[in-house]
Amino acid sequence: MAYLLWNGELPTKEQLAEFAARERAGRALDPVVKQVIDALPVTSHPMDVCRTAASVMGARHPLAEDSSREANMAKAVDLFAAMPAVVAYDQRRRHGQELVEPRDDLGYSANFLWMAFGEEQVPEVVEAFNVSMILYAEHSFNASTFTARVITSTLSDLHSAVTGAIGALKGPLHGGANEAVMHTFDEIGIRQEESLEEAAARAKAWMEDALAKKKKVMGFGHRVYKHGDSRVPTMKAALDKMIAHYGRPELLGLYNGLETAMDEAKAIKPNLDYPAGPTYHLMGFDTPTFTPLFVASRITGWTAHIMEQLDSNSLIRPLSEYNGVEERHLP
Ligand code: ACO
Repeated sequence: MAYLLWNGELPTKEQLAEFAARERAGRALDPVVKQVIDALPVTSHPMDVCRTAASVMGARHPLAEDSSREANMAKAVDLFAAMPAVVAYDQRRRHGQELVEPRDDLGYSANFLWMAFGEEQVPEVVEAFNVSMILYAEHSFNASTFTARVITSTLSDLHSAVTGAIGALKGPLHGGANEAVMHTFDEIGIRQEESLEEAAARAKAWMEDALAKKKKVMGFGHRVYKHGDSRVPTMKAALDKMIAHYGRPELLGLYNGLETAMDEAKAIKPNLDYPAGPTYHLMGFDTPTFTPLFVASRITGWTAHIMEQLDSNSLIRPLSEYNGVEERHLP
């Protein structure tokens, strides 16, 4: 997927092997980036850690001042290869655990999970994680990609654009929603002993109350998809497999209850973050790590846009319409 986004075509077997070898060679966490992460409090939001790491990687990149396509491609692969180590290590240090070194005998997703948990995961789990990474990789002119385009349009560098994009993605109206979905589940209360039907009934009641209070419920609605997010069925199928794998029907109950109540009341459909949140929870990720997982994948889409912007750049500088006082006089 990353190769397709950056090159416009799927790779041949040889190109894929070369590309995978390049990605595998760039997985280790730069010791200086690790030192910077270690200097941050363990209470720092993982998105702040990710944003800081992207910025440090930019300042330390040997091609920092070179924005040619070749240099940007190298920077994009470097960021894509190294960000999983940042996300995985940050989660581990918050639990007082040591860094787990990457393995080059594992694929991207299997290695990501290995570095996060220090254990190899079964193929079903790796596959569900891989599905989420593919679905998160690229999504046209969303807020963070637009941010990256705006920064690039000033002829700033690729890492600055990615750093800004991470800041935009953090907000709960955008990528932060996958994390917020889990807060909703927590607020309703996850009761493992509960049946699917009991959980669904409680979730439905919670949603009805939230909507009566005019609350925005994260994980629902989309600026572009007004009749449902086309990525949701694929991610929901992955979530279903994880619910079966981990034996957690009550989570499906919460999922169904909220979805049904929202549909009945407002006909607003879930977005990708809705099934992604509980999938990551089941895999054992901490809730604040969810949006950094999105970052690790979206680096591909952002950097593809950055290179495309530079190919035929023009400064993005919108006009605004002034509607304030017409004339002011000095007192
Ligand atoms: N919960 C409750 N009501 C909602 C929701 C929601 N999640 N989303 C939209 N609505 C309601 C609004 O309150 C509004 O109702 P009104 O007409 O009675 O005032 C109506 O639907 C239209 O909503 P807007 O906010 O105008 O729609 P917009 O296109 O601006 O918003 C957005 C899209 C920001 C994504 C919105 O749906 C939202 O805030 N959702 C929750 C955050 C979220 O899940 N973001 C993830 C986006 S996808 C992604 O990043 C992978």
